[in-house]
Amino acid sequence: MHTIDRRAFIDNSVLDIEFDRVFHPSWQFLGFAGEVREPGDYVVRMLGRDEVVVIRGEDGEVRALHNSCTHRGTRLCRASLGNTAHLRCSYHGWTFANDGRLVGVPALRSGYPPDFDHAGHGLSAARVTSRRGFLFATWDPHAPDLEEYLGEIAWYLDALLDCGGGEWEACGPPQRVRAQGNWKIPTDNFAGDGYHMRTTHQIALDQGIYGDTLANGTRGRAGTDLTAVNIATPAGHSVRAGYVIDSGSSLEDRDPAAPQFPGYPPERWAELAAAQTPEQVRFTSHCEVAHGVVFPNTVFLSVAHDRAVGEESDPLTRYLVVRSHVPVSARETECLYWTLVPTAMDPQWRRRSYRFQARTQSAGGILFEMDDFENFARIDDALARSAPGRGGPVDLTLGAGLGTPARDFPGPAQAEVATLSEHNQRAFYRRWAALVGELP
Ligand code: FES
Ligand SMILES: [Fe+2]
Repeated sequence: MHTIDRRAFIDNSVLDIEFDRVFHPSWQFLGFAGEVREPGDYVVRMLGRDEVVVIRGEDGEVRALHNSCTHRGTRLCRASLGNTAHLRCSYHGWTFANDGRLVGVPALRSGYPPDFDHAGHGLSAARVTSRRGFLFATWDPHAPDLEEYLGEIAWYLDALLDCGGGEWEACGPPQRVRAQGNWKIPTDNFAGDGYHMRTTHQIALDQGIYGDTLANGTRGRAGTDLTAVNIATPAGHSVRAGYVIDSGSSLEDRDPAAPQFPGYPPERWAELAAAQTPEQVRFTSHCEVAHGVVFPNTVFLSVAHDRAVGEESDPLTRYLVVRSHVPVSARETECLYWTLVPTAMDPQWRRRSYRFQARTQSAGGILFEMDDFENFARIDDALARSAPGRGGPVDLTLGAGLGTPARDFPGPAQAEVATLSEHNQRAFYRRWAALVGELP
């Protein structure tokens, strides 16, 4: 899979197919359990084509209820978050409990036959599973359970979370921004695009955001190189992990007795290592950046940034952001951003982590987001403007056949060492193409 038809990025009939064949059978990330902590707490999110109210019932269970009245179909909940015992329709007043049951029908006795079926008029509910506080949902009753769906990628997600001490919480509700361009464009960028750093983000590198590693900066980590490992699974999930190691050495040269977790306080490295398995430490030690995709449209980035984005006295600090790329149309995507902080870190460190994320990779980030969104919009402009068939398909050849298998790499799934490669993007689109089939 080295090319993709350009129509995949601009054609709404392709998006219709994607909703049915890619999104419907998949587990999609909706948010964090902590966003709906108390009974009645809700947030409104998209699940494929449909809007859902993600709401904790009085029984403590989190559900994803279709946000559409079962009488005429009116949109029930118009706020994006809140707390309520009931959802009451604005048209004729049908009322649903926060577990989705229809519990109130005006003029029930005088207006409806005695055998009116309340139970048959409850709100449709998607399957919801909470994993380490991450809420995933699917409409597909036949989808495998979440653990099987995630497969090998779960090991890598767990390692990144365990490296921060295990427990994480979201810094408030997600930021949301609409971006021009198809949902797959930012998603394949997160799957493994190290290639754009030196052009798109040259200004960030020039400011020394990664120390000396990627730029000719002055931040005091001279003599190191970045080596990336790409991990992609047959299900289309992926991680690209970048390691900062001494120039001329290899990943295998890292000292297992002296793990380093860039961006976390060095005085806590031993404690953080103890919270992980030895195999996890071999994945997380010296890892400066890890990003990837939970197929189809959830992405994550864990990265240690330098004080170029903070105050001069700020130490190298790590943040973790989880994002959802929700299709609005074939050519527009709503991006939701959740910043996560480990509860094991002190409040000052957590504030700094959030600040670094907000200043770089957020909707208003000064360094990365503006650069990336500009390119995504330019892709969309040019693809949409072109005559059918003009320009050839989108190319994914970078690094094909050139990566070397990662020796002695601890996690499951095939890992290959290749700092510049579209290995992960190829896996993403291979899975996508297998589900979508021939384009119309
Ligand atoms: S449409 Fe909701 S009560 Fe009639
Ligand atoms: Fe970027």
